[in-house]
Amino acid sequence: MGKNSLNRLAGELKHFLLEQDEDEFITPAAPTKTAAGVSRADKKLFSMQENTTLTVDFPRAQHVATDTAPLPDQTKETPVMTTSQKQTALNELAQTINQCSRCPLGATRLHAVPGEGNVDADLMFVGEGPGYDEDRQGRPFVGRAGQLLDKMIAAMGLTREQVFIANIAKCHPMTDPQHPEKHGNDRAPNAGEIACCRKYLEQQIAIICPKYIVALGGVSAKALISDAKSLGALRGQFYNLTLDSVQLPRPVQVLATFHPAALLRNPNWKKDAWKDLQMVMAKLGLKTPVK
Ligand code: URA
Repeated sequence: MGKNSLNRLAGELKHFLLEQDEDEFITPAAPTKTAAGVSRADKKLFSMQENTTLTVDFPRAQHVATDTAPLPDQTKETPVMTTSQKQTALNELAQTINQCSRCPLGATRLHAVPGEGNVDADLMFVGEGPGYDEDRQGRPFVGRAGQLLDKMIAAMGLTREQVFIANIAKCHPMTDPQHPEKHGNDRAPNAGEIACCRKYLEQQIAIICPKYIVALGGVSAKALISDAKSLGALRGQFYNLTLDSVQLPRPVQVLATFHPAALLRNPNWKKDAWKDLQMVMAKLGLKTPVK
């Protein structure tokens, strides 16, 4: 086994062990009403700790030239599809995303992260872009923010398998692309990266056609609501989604809330995030689960 492979294995093992120490998998508590009318389940949800920085040697793909391959036809209205048609369309789209090098992130990623979940979901969550763990696994929200998102979903009485989870950007944006092995190297996707990925997300939304989308964080909220206002100004109301490249078969509404990573840093925002999620639950007719 080569030195790089050994380093990589050692780094991944160390990271895995650190994650286990910090893990606090918590199931939603039986809801107890507080004076503010908010269930205590959210308090159980939000007890994660901050990321640990770790440096490992991790080889990257070489730079790939800009991909000029055309995207699938985006001008047509997407009809409401059967489950198997949706699955096929999403799989094809995921293949396109996995090979994409339309922006420089294609050259530094380990894996693209197209998204995953129930193709017939009524509810979709859209984050900002993959981080360290997602880049390594090719799956959305599998790191610490993802563990918190899982708990938020559980508090709504749903499972990860019942919703669809995707991101605005499909590849890992890094502050220091020369050192992809570093933790704490994540950044928000820039305008060019968002523009490159936009059609992919729009096609996913048109295929799945959920009733509601929860935009996680300011980057997602601004991109989906097409408004430059702050997250604070965008929260608290539903917006009708309009897409640039495809027409939706039926209306989809967007609600913005805090990104789970922001909630890990600012636990005092969790109460408001829970209120946002309860707005979506009311629309979907979901009740807070009793343990
Ligand atoms: N943060 C995101 O916005 N998306 C992920 O998939 C993981 C972390």
